[in-house]
Amino acid sequence: MHTWVQLRTILVSLSSICGTKTSKFMSLFNFMGICVIFSMKNQGRNLANICQIWRKQTLLQLRLAPLVAVLFSAVHFGSSRLYEGIANFYDESSGLWEDMWGEHMHHGYYDTDSGSSNQNDHRLAQITMIENSLSFAQVPDSKEERPTHVVDVGCGIGGSARYLARRYEAKVSAITLSPVQAARGNVITASQELSNLVTLQVANALKQPFEDGSFDLVWSMESGEHMPDKQQFVGELARVAAPGGRIIIVTWCHRDLELGETCLKPKEQALLDKICDAYYLPAWCSPSDYMELLKTLELKDIKYADWSKNVTPFWPAVMASALSFRGLIKLATSGWTTIRGALAMRLMVQGYQMGLIKFAIITAQKPL
Ligand SMILES: C[S@@+](CC[C@H](N)C(=O)[O-])C[C@H]1O[C@@H](n2cnc3c(N)ncnc32)[C@H](O)[C@@H]1O
Repeated sequence: MHTWVQLRTILVSLSSICGTKTSKFMSLFNFMGICVIFSMKNQGRNLANICQIWRKQTLLQLRLAPLVAVLFSAVHFGSSRLYEGIANFYDESSGLWEDMWGEHMHHGYYDTDSGSSNQNDHRLAQITMIENSLSFAQVPDSKEERPTHVVDVGCGIGGSARYLARRYEAKVSAITLSPVQAARGNVITASQELSNLVTLQVANALKQPFEDGSFDLVWSMESGEHMPDKQQFVGELARVAAPGGRIIIVTWCHRDLELGETCLKPKEQALLDKICDAYYLPAWCSPSDYMELLKTLELKDIKYADWSKNVTPFWPAVMASALSFRGLIKLATSGWTTIRGALAMRLMVQGYQMGLIKFAIITAQKPL
């Protein structure tokens, strides 16, 4: 929506310079904007209302309705297809991941600088990732100040949710798009006797089923890359954060653009496109883009770190486990979506090696 407003401003100026032809184009552009906003806000249910507005536009004379209808559908059905793809991908692949790697579906943090590294203990590295994220965001530990209500946005099978519940004795609400993950996560939670604290449910991070200001810790571990509208994503994280609450986003980004660059190099974009296909990701953004988005909200202490170097051992380890005898057997009995995901692992390694993919932590606090 922000981009649309900017584009619209440029077109208004153009319109005043070039006269009536551009005005008609403005009219079309205005209308397309209305369609996009409607599709985002009402999930496309109000097509009839949109047509009413359409009739009132001078555009009707231009008989461009079919074109706009196609554009409208593309925006709306594009994200529904993405959500469906994400849900299916995790429905299908989570069992295999859990068998091979356990309950945490995220990178490990490896102490690559110190000689005595944790490079061979991947499960420990995943816990280190959680702990380092909490310290980076300066989440308080004391009994009086520690979080009591946490939301895990894009929770997988609830590894972080249960960890945070135990760590802080906090109530954790966790959401995922995958019904299989939610069901499995609740079974594990019950087996660990944590059902009184942790609940997983199917819900969309861009339209969270929670009241404003509900949580003093808002946690998103490697789910941001799946969000088709980053502004809405961070807006929702800020909305559900309580005054004084911390927001932690750990996510895949592309590198920041250099001065004079307006986009990535074609070779880089081509690599990201292949990764997007395999892992059901929409367009990527850079850490600076996230910082800019967060700055548009009422948040303080917005900061970022690049942990790309610290996650280097992760993908080679995942590839090695997939190529083990057990991994190959399990892969062979899984579906095509999972196999395609496994084949794309080398692209992730390549992306990190090129300096194209950045593993970023971005944190902020909602003022009291
Ligand atoms: C790589 S997994 C990370 C899981 C978990 N955070 C962890 O660290 O174990 C990505 C998760 O994001 C969830 N996700 C992606 N898009 C989402 C959306 N729009 N709303 C809710 N969850 C979403 C997926 O369903 C999946 O559970």
